[in-house]
Amino acid sequence: MNKRKQKILVTGGAGYIGSHAIIELIDAEYDVISIDNFSNSTKDTFTRIKKITGVSVRNYVGDVADVALLERVFKKEKHIDGIIHFAALKSVPESVADPIRYYENNIGSLFSIISFAKKHNITQFVFSSSAAVYGDITKLPVNEKTPLAPPASPYGATKVMGEMMLRDIAHASPELKIAMLRYFNPIGAHTSGMLGELPLGAPANLAPIIIEAASSVRKNVTIFGNNYSTRDGTCIRDYIHVSDIARAHVDALRFLQKQKNCCEIFNLGSGKGVTVLELIQAFEKVTEIVVPVTIGKRRAGDMAAIYSDCRKAKKMLGWVPRFSIQEAMQSAWQWHLNLVSKKPSKRALK
Ligand code: UFG
Repeated sequence: MNKRKQKILVTGGAGYIGSHAIIELIDAEYDVISIDNFSNSTKDTFTRIKKITGVSVRNYVGDVADVALLERVFKKEKHIDGIIHFAALKSVPESVADPIRYYENNIGSLFSIISFAKKHNITQFVFSSSAAVYGDITKLPVNEKTPLAPPASPYGATKVMGEMMLRDIAHASPELKIAMLRYFNPIGAHTSGMLGELPLGAPANLAPIIIEAASSVRKNVTIFGNNYSTRDGTCIRDYIHVSDIARAHVDALRFLQKQKNCCEIFNLGSGKGVTVLELIQAFEKVTEIVVPVTIGKRRAGDMAAIYSDCRKAKKMLGWVPRFSIQEAMQSAWQWHLNLVSKKPSKRALK
């Protein structure tokens, strides 16, 4: 007799990390459903997922904070074994400009989805946290026991508060098993070239900005400060291929399934610190395209350096990153080329 597949509800399934995680979940034989309101994505993502995996993922369009919608989903689906909660607003500068929206959305949706999990005895819960919870720390690399400095933005504060909330809930309800994954800087695209980062509006993160500068969509990359006390004066981050991050969600679910009770935090990074200039050089090396740069002022809220110690994820989840930053940048470029089906301009060629 065929064993029933585990059914996982992914919130924010059309988003950058959510969509890549869905592919890994399908590969690992999970039955996946999604809730996404397309506030920063489009429904085409599900067409792309179908092309890659052959599977049509059911997406319920709406807001995770909408309790009536969650109940409709449960009534229709009948059972759900686990939830991966990606849906959240994620722009640091936007959160500084509009903190009410960030607290309302990120805390409100977490509150409704975890209440829903508890009400329906859904026992596996994976939460998208962020390296932003570490705040402006100086002792590197950071591990899960590193004391948190005050978060530098309301976005970071929503993740700290989310973790606190979940810790208390797991303590009071041990049958609810929780993994909180602190993502470092996701970059890259699926190896098929058919899925990648596609935010609505102008990108704010470095990797998509490099791609835009390489393809002359923008004039150059403005490097936000080259006078930090790092090896080349530019900020250090821990860039990690989005498919590596995505795969960790499968590992986390498998881990949770084996536990009696659990509330664990895991860093998901490469463990390597890379400067802004080094990421640009990695891109230039694999694509042979020169990226025009200019040096600008420091960006408010940026910390000089942060990178992870990921030994806990390796030890407890058996997770290790498979892709290098060169491979990640190459895949992001391939995705871009497939998306626009447009060659880089002569100006950008070496
Ligand atoms: N940078 C530039 N020029 C740009 C854009 C970025 O020099 O045009 C630099 C930034 O100053 C920073 C680095 O590139 O030093 C990375 O910046 P990103 O905006 O790509 O990423 P952040 O590290 O600022 O933020 C990311 C996520 C957040 C998350 C944070 C956790 O976008 O959601 O990591 O550390 F909170």
